[in-house]
Amino acid sequence: MKGIISICGKGGVGKTTLAALLSRLVLEEKNSRGLAIDADPAGGLSLALSLPIKKTVNDLRKSVIASIKTHSTDSLNLAASIDYQLLEALSEYRNLAFLAVGRPEEEGFYCQVNTFLREAIEKMAGHFDLVLIDAEAGVEQVNRRVMGQIDLLLLVSDLSAKGLRVAETIKQVADEAMQYRSAGLLINRVRSKKELAEVQQSTHLPLLGWLPEDPRVRQFDMAGRSFLELPDCPSLQAVRELSRSLIV
Ligand SMILES: Nc1ncnc2c1ncn2[C@@H]1O[C@H](COP(=O)(O)OP(=O)(O)OP(=O)(O)O)[C@@H](O)[C@H]1O
Ligand SMILES: [Mg+2]
Repeated sequence: MKGIISICGKGGVGKTTLAALLSRLVLEEKNSRGLAIDADPAGGLSLALSLPIKKTVNDLRKSVIASIKTHSTDSLNLAASIDYQLLEALSEYRNLAFLAVGRPEEEGFYCQVNTFLREAIEKMAGHFDLVLIDAEAGVEQVNRRVMGQIDLLLLVSDLSAKGLRVAETIKQVADEAMQYRSAGLLINRVRSKKELAEVQQSTHLPLLGWLPEDPRVRQFDMAGRSFLELPDCPSLQAVRELSRSLIV
């Protein structure tokens, strides 16, 4: 798996689960480095991976603004300090790194800081083979703050018509507001091939893959266990299958 993948979709359809399963898969690809970014202010991916949030991008933003206010740094030092602090904010587990974006705030007069931050995140992302972004539910905006350009917009939906319509709307919004190379649908919580075929017929979005309804996912979520410890199970096999077609 390679590239920058943004995982989007309606609330509750399984974005964080998919991001966690893909992160689990990174551990199997020992020669590649993965970066999982939790871009949902609610912050579920940290829990799903049981990785600590040392410092969010937003915490970093606040400290940068504070140092600008005290005029204690020039822009060259500022950029270097952002790079350094961003590395410090990463949690790491084997060949996987994790970064949380945190709660966004008003742009104010500090859009220059946001540009600095985005550039720093993009630069850092360049050191990883795979970058996974667990986006905020709905027609998201955080993504643009995180990364200017992505490779794959992975639209997640459950079997509901609502989930599919939201996925289609996100795609429309992304067409206008984002730079991405390709986009496709992942259907989650599938119980039969028949169901999948029916859903596939009711949308124009290209189907990239699907995940089965998996009791293991429920168990792990109920117990608050890390998905990085997930044993081989149907959903992990399905994600492994999906990853073969996700070479971006
Ligand atoms: N394939 C699956 N099999 C069984 N349960 C699943 C599956 N996918 C997701 N779930 C369950 O559905 C619930 C919602 O999943 P998840 O948190 O991944 O959704 P989300 O899209 O990230 O939600 P939010 O929009 O709130 O961030 C969780 O309780 C999870 O355990
Ligand atoms: Mg989530």
